[in-house]
Amino acid sequence: MDYLKIKQSKKLSGTIEISGAKNASLPLIAMSILAKNPVNISNVPNVVDIKTLLKLLSNLGASHSEDWQRHTISIDTSSINDTKATYDIVKTMRASILVLGPILARYGVCEVSLPGGCAIGQRPVDLHLRALELMGAKISIESGYIHAVAPDGLKGCEIVFDKITVTGTANIVMAAALAKGVTTIVNAAREPEVAQLCEILNRSGVSIKGIGTAVLEICGSGGELLNIEDFSVIADRIEAGTYLCAAAITHSKLTLTKCEPKHLGSVIAKLEEMGCVFDIDGDVLSITPPKKLKPIKIVTQEYPAFPTDMQAQFVALATQAEGVSIIEEKLFENRFMHVSELQRLGAHITLNGSVATIEGKSKLSGTDVMATDLRASSALVLAALVADGETNIHRIYHLDRGYEELETKLIAVGAKIKRLKE
Ligand code: EPZ
Repeated sequence: MDYLKIKQSKKLSGTIEISGAKNASLPLIAMSILAKNPVNISNVPNVVDIKTLLKLLSNLGASHSEDWQRHTISIDTSSINDTKATYDIVKTMRASILVLGPILARYGVCEVSLPGGCAIGQRPVDLHLRALELMGAKISIESGYIHAVAPDGLKGCEIVFDKITVTGTANIVMAAALAKGVTTIVNAAREPEVAQLCEILNRSGVSIKGIGTAVLEICGSGGELLNIEDFSVIADRIEAGTYLCAAAITHSKLTLTKCEPKHLGSVIAKLEEMGCVFDIDGDVLSITPPKKLKPIKIVTQEYPAFPTDMQAQFVALATQAEGVSIIEEKLFENRFMHVSELQRLGAHITLNGSVATIEGKSKLSGTDVMATDLRASSALVLAALVADGETNIHRIYHLDRGYEELETKLIAVGAKIKRLKE
């Protein structure tokens, strides 16, 4: 297994190019199941989760090709001859659940292994299943698998989500795309990644109203496969937010290119509250941090409020603010595993249920730490950049799931990082 050896890197400078969004690419790749033609996607991030989903599709019989130099992939699902997403793949990536809606809509039958537990929380998929049942599917759970059938196809109906669910909304949007009639999703997720899925479908013959709002109205094709034009994935707002935190924690001016500032509103606002100044010019975003970071109060919520996927990074950043910060995690019940690792580095953090209290500014000293999940890993990288001495971050396979060439991008702006073998 690889690990990262990071030396204190007080000053960064230069430009970082942001990759395409992992969490947009995953539903967009699953969407190819709805297409009659091969689907060509550009600006796809070269990360492990994308390769996992492509492997799942090829296990089902689809064919695909990738040009990672150009970050493009092409997927042809006309050769799919199986509708069972097996445990061996699903256990490595819970977003595999995204094939359930499209496969059921196209083939009338689908089996997907229940994703099982996850480091950050129980993460059930009950809302996905209930919505599909309302659309006419018969669903049972047997031996750890979801068995779904819809022999007469799926029918549009009104679905009210008890909770806002990002992949739940994406799954139902894709199921509704081939359903008969109109599906209205109330309390839909408004994340940009869901909005892009809707925009691409809307350009492919599926009329979708309310894109980007909490109420989506999808007029399905009645089983007719879609002709999906080539498209490019939106920029990864969480990757961009992570690098903004790298600039802030090291008090360095950095410029991000190929990013989408309008998807970062709540993150930029919090960094401004901490004293950072921004310059925005189209897809170029520059950050100038203050000499002293102010403490911050954050509550994670669904988009467009502050994203849970940036919580760990801000806990790390808050250790360097001058004062007491309060960060509350409201979406996942166990998303503070980075705290104990940050405490090993010397951070003063107390946890009380879903609220972390971070006393800054704390002096961090390098040591061995362990990544526990994707965003916790990036939080440890941020802390390691300012910790005295050297920090070794182990189990960075978590990081490789969702960040493309993170250490290469940071080394290019002056970070002292080496990727080594255990
Ligand atoms: C997506 O996960 C993202 N993953 C997550 O990013 C992100 O943290 C999350 O949305 C919240 O923004 C992808 O897009 C691939 P949810 P998802 O369904 O869709 C509960 C990362 O770091 N819930 O919006 O699985 C659930 O337990 C990853 O890139 C149900 O109760 O999250 C949670 O408390 C981590 N029943 C809340 O809703 C359901 O059927 C939000 O979950 C579904 C969800």
